[in-house]
Amino acid sequence: MKMWSGRFSQGPDAEFEQWQRSFPFDRVLLPYEVAASKAHASALAQAGVLDGDELAATLFALDQIGHEGVPEADEPAIEDVHHYVETRLVELAGGVGHKLHTGRSRNEQIATDLRLYVREQIDEVTRLLAQFASAFVSQAEAAGDSAMPAYTHLQRAEPVLVAHWMLAYVEMLLRDIDRLSDCRKRLNVCPLGSGAVGGTILPLDREAIAAELEFDSPAANSMDATSDRDFAIEFVQALSFVALHLSRWAEEFILFSTTEFGFVKLPEQYSTGSSAMPQKKNPDALELIRGKAGKVFAEATALSIGMKGLPLAYNKDLQETQQPVFSAAQQVSGMVRVATGFMGTVEFNYVRMQQAASCGFMNAQAAAAYLVRQGTPFRRAHELIGKAVRLCVEQSCELEQLSKDDYVLCGIDADQQFYSALALKEVLAIHNVPGGTAPARVRGSLQTAKEKLSQYFGVAHACT
Ligand code: ARG
Repeated sequence: MKMWSGRFSQGPDAEFEQWQRSFPFDRVLLPYEVAASKAHASALAQAGVLDGDELAATLFALDQIGHEGVPEADEPAIEDVHHYVETRLVELAGGVGHKLHTGRSRNEQIATDLRLYVREQIDEVTRLLAQFASAFVSQAEAAGDSAMPAYTHLQRAEPVLVAHWMLAYVEMLLRDIDRLSDCRKRLNVCPLGSGAVGGTILPLDREAIAAELEFDSPAANSMDATSDRDFAIEFVQALSFVALHLSRWAEEFILFSTTEFGFVKLPEQYSTGSSAMPQKKNPDALELIRGKAGKVFAEATALSIGMKGLPLAYNKDLQETQQPVFSAAQQVSGMVRVATGFMGTVEFNYVRMQQAASCGFMNAQAAAAYLVRQGTPFRRAHELIGKAVRLCVEQSCELEQLSKDDYVLCGIDADQQFYSALALKEVLAIHNVPGGTAPARVRGSLQTAKEKLSQYFGVAHACT
């Protein structure tokens, strides 16, 4: 039975009718539709619309609908998930099922279902991100004091600890978690009781409905509550940041797994071969993560564009906001899962990284810093060490291989301490500030990261 046929003298065009349905995709909202319907039924009983037996029969049938789940095959006569639950309720509980829609509207239902869906996805993605971040923490611990080059402009810049590099990603992921939790705070108000647009016509206890569904409070304005999709946009934008970070990570690992870099050994479980070239091991997992990121940005854009022209309050355009949310959530969960598996199995060539960290004049800044400590103004020290580097380039050697006489030519008095200052260990140690790569600082940062992550696992050292 249709939900709205009385006013019409003829049915809709068959093609239009099928085309406007949302049940093929909003079926994923069934658990939330059932929960919201149960809360509404209880409020109806309190308001005297359902008697005790009717409430019990309604709740029993709604639970059964929840257990059954949606039918495997699409049902072309069903318009949307709200229609499905009401239809099935009448099948299971009889005529009492026709009372459930008293004092409510699908406009508030979809706004509620979608909020519940997003809330659950936020919790799920947060859990997945915490696991992913833990994989970085474990790798950072395994790397010990191994060093690698850090790049600026993709040119060797300064040596850093491998652990320091890993912890850079942990910071990004912690911000992603924070953005999701911020979004969760704002979305957690309950539209139920808003009716179609002006508020329900029954004296329903909105506080009780909100509490039953674990919302913080009822939404404050019925027009806003039934037409707001900020929470959906914010969620997908927060997911865009996750996708962006995953994509940068994937790109860097692709690069570092090339023979030219040779820092990363691709795990076979996350690589594929070539049908043509027998020698190939390709970083498909990473490439697909990089590729899928673009789709998540597209969903965020689709939502903003879809919303920007909508006058208050509900418009059917809002039905189109569902799929971008579902799609982005699924894409990102899949990406984070695969990325976590990858990080748990990937191996690093620490020897090669350490070698790369020890050459290419990455001690030049430390050399200049030494001269500064001896009283040379920095600009002058920069110039002098620059000359020394030029000499090294001519002689194809490193700064520590220039002789004392070579340094005299550059205007530098290179004593034993100067040469000591060029050693990798010393170069790392002088970055001794909070957030710097000096080993003691990195150990501190690692501990802080573990503590921050432990709140998502309930144990202090979840990642060791
Ligand atoms: N399937 C619809 C949606 O997703 C439910 C709300 C329909 N409301 C209406 N007034 N036609 O938006």
